[in-house]
Amino acid sequence: MGAHNRSLGAALGFCLLAGPAMAQDASGARGGAFARAICARCHAIRARGASPMREAPPFRSLAERFPIDDLADVLVEGVERRHPAMPDFRLAPAEAADLTAYLRTLRR
Ligand code: HEC
Repeated sequence: MGAHNRSLGAALGFCLLAGPAMAQDASGARGGAFARAICARCHAIRARGASPMREAPPFRSLAERFPIDDLADVLVEGVERRHPAMPDFRLAPAEAADLTAYLRTLRR
């Protein structure tokens, strides 16, 4: 029982406290990268700015229009339903969860 054990305990305590918040940040970061890579050429994906494609709703308006907890469903279904010309647009649930985490960050 020396200083070594105490610092190990402190490190574990830190991980337990910081874990969920950091996981949420990582998910949002993945979602943002995904949106930038795939969605951004048509949708505005940031807190400001118009969509490059006029018909495509800015992502921040998705966060305003739908309850945030339904957004993962909206993303999985909406992306399939609203992009009929792009049948390969199929989000995996994990990707939808990441995007939802990102959309949360667009909320004020
Ligand atoms: C080639 C252009 C294009 C790309 C790329 C694109 N979208 Fe869209 N998206 C649109 C257009 C246009 C609409 C509006 C369709 C409509 O309202 O009928 C739309 C609508 C949507 C909707 C439906 C919104 C609603 O009100 O129901 C969602 C959700 C959506 N897009 C998500 C995404 C996601 C997530 C990606 C990236 C994985 C993506 N889109 C990539 C053009 C695009």
